[in-house]
Amino acid sequence: MTAATPVTSLRTPRQVERLVQGRATSDGAGVKLTRVLTQDLQRRLDPFLMLDAFGTDQAEDYIAGFPDHPHRGFETVTYMLEGQMRHRDSAGHEGLLGPGGVQWMTAGRGVIHSELPEQQEGRMEGFQLWLNLPGRDKMRDPWYRDIASAEIPELTLPGATVRVIAGESHGVSGAMQREATQPIYLDVHLDPGASFEQALPATHNAFLYVYRGALRFDTGCLVPSGRMAILANTPGSDGARLTASDDGARAILIAGQPLAEPIAQYGPFVMNTEGELLQAVRDFQAGKFA
Ligand code: CO
Repeated sequence: MTAATPVTSLRTPRQVERLVQGRATSDGAGVKLTRVLTQDLQRRLDPFLMLDAFGTDQAEDYIAGFPDHPHRGFETVTYMLEGQMRHRDSAGHEGLLGPGGVQWMTAGRGVIHSELPEQQEGRMEGFQLWLNLPGRDKMRDPWYRDIASAEIPELTLPGATVRVIAGESHGVSGAMQREATQPIYLDVHLDPGASFEQALPATHNAFLYVYRGALRFDTGCLVPSGRMAILANTPGSDGARLTASDDGARAILIAGQPLAEPIAQYGPFVMNTEGELLQAVRDFQAGKFA
């Protein structure tokens, strides 16, 4: 027995199925962002509905924030890399999201909330992920948790530091667990040329987004900064191996068990049927989210 714990070697690591550039857009009161996981990928990346990446040093790109708006039927997961955002919602929750922190909100049957920058200048960078709820949970009570940076478990391996936001990595349990979708959400920091292996159930849909440096796959595929890579659902695959280029890499790796339910979306409402969407609009207009 050696002192160092050997890194489990994957037998059949997943490769990149395709790269996605994302689409520059704006949301809220004019916040500039890149929509990386767009509506046309919801079925392919079930249970994930959306991923927005934002990152700018220009205050005018973020200062107006996201004033009051509703959500129903899914969860929003906001991960801040830099900057401060204050959150308030109709259920009476309020919190300040800071660098390295996560806000996990279950909209359930409905919340109205605002997300507003708590800074006049400096850099604002991070991600917002939408995670679907199974039909049976879409009308549950709203819930949320602010997870400070210090509360996110970290894993250190040779050449790699991994922040385990959700799920599990190398025996380290993440800050959040979800029964229905078994999400894995990791922020992986790699030294130049270093590799990191993550076990992934073959049935999970999985993707990653590189936000610094670049990743190189066994097939020679290079994933540069600012790109999402959809990982192939190779039958019998046992995980993903991420190898940094000579510049190192930082990437979020996200995976989850598909719900395989119908997806009906109208803006901030995501339900199973058109009828449920109509009901969501009616309930919102009747003030039932407040
Ligand atoms: Co929102």
